[in-house]
Amino acid sequence: MLDIFKTNKSRKNKEQIVLDKENIPKHIAIIMDGNGRWAKQRNLPRTMGHKAGVETIRKVIKESNKLGIKYLTLYAFSTENWKRPNDEVSALMKLLVEYLKNELEELNKNQVVINILGDIDKLPSDAQREIKKAIVTTKDNIGISLNIAFNYGGRDEILRAVNLVLEEVKKGNINEDSISEDIFEKYLYTYNIPDPDLIIRPSGEQRISNFLLWQCAYSEFWYSNVCWPDFKEEHLHKAIYDYQHRDRRYGGV
Ligand code: IPE
Ligand code: IPE
Ligand code: MG
Repeated sequence: MLDIFKTNKSRKNKEQIVLDKENIPKHIAIIMDGNGRWAKQRNLPRTMGHKAGVETIRKVIKESNKLGIKYLTLYAFSTENWKRPNDEVSALMKLLVEYLKNELEELNKNQVVINILGDIDKLPSDAQREIKKAIVTTKDNIGISLNIAFNYGGRDEILRAVNLVLEEVKKGNINEDSISEDIFEKYLYTYNIPDPDLIIRPSGEQRISNFLLWQCAYSEFWYSNVCWPDFKEEHLHKAIYDYQHRDRRYGGV
């Protein structure tokens, strides 16, 4: 057992959360939502919310590492987020570049392996350069895998996989009668990454927003009203605690 104490706002109500360290989810995926609303509540521009959200990313990676989570996937930019005003889109691109530039050394020191899920060819060249550098620098590390979903869409990923499989069939590398789930999964961005055990979405929205559509088949979902910049270690603990009290049946009895 792992003793984690959750302190409520009123210090009198100290609620103890004891996590079972034998049942820590192997893969947690987070839809980092609510940055814009966080900023609006403070009369700040939306981009300030995104900046504040980066602080939460740092905290969550550190805590996930401490808890022994093996894979952490963070949804940072969806294939639909291009619909946003140009200045917000470019601010998000810039934040990604800055984040990788500022954090790579520290992440590497902590043995983090960085992966990107999504179509990076459509990103500005400086973003592509920093992404490639981060992947190459951290590829032999042995710590937590940090998957950043950037320009990621679940439908886009599935369609891409279908086309890749078709190409292999045309080349004669795959027999069209033998396409199984195992073969198909090799063409997803998440190849070699286990499906998420737990998907967390802060900000009060209770939808999937095109995230990990194939992979979430048997994931447990956890929602919170807190906006991402206000998401704290205690929320992560509570999500894991609730997860540990669910009964995952996978269609069985
Ligand atoms: C999540 O925060 C970050 C991205 C989608 C890039 P939002 O920007 O969606 O924040 P809200 O939902 O408008 O509050
Ligand atoms: C989902 O959030 C995408 C990311 C967090 C990157 P959105 O804010 O884009 O989702 P919707 O529009 O509320 O469904
Ligand atoms: Mg949102």
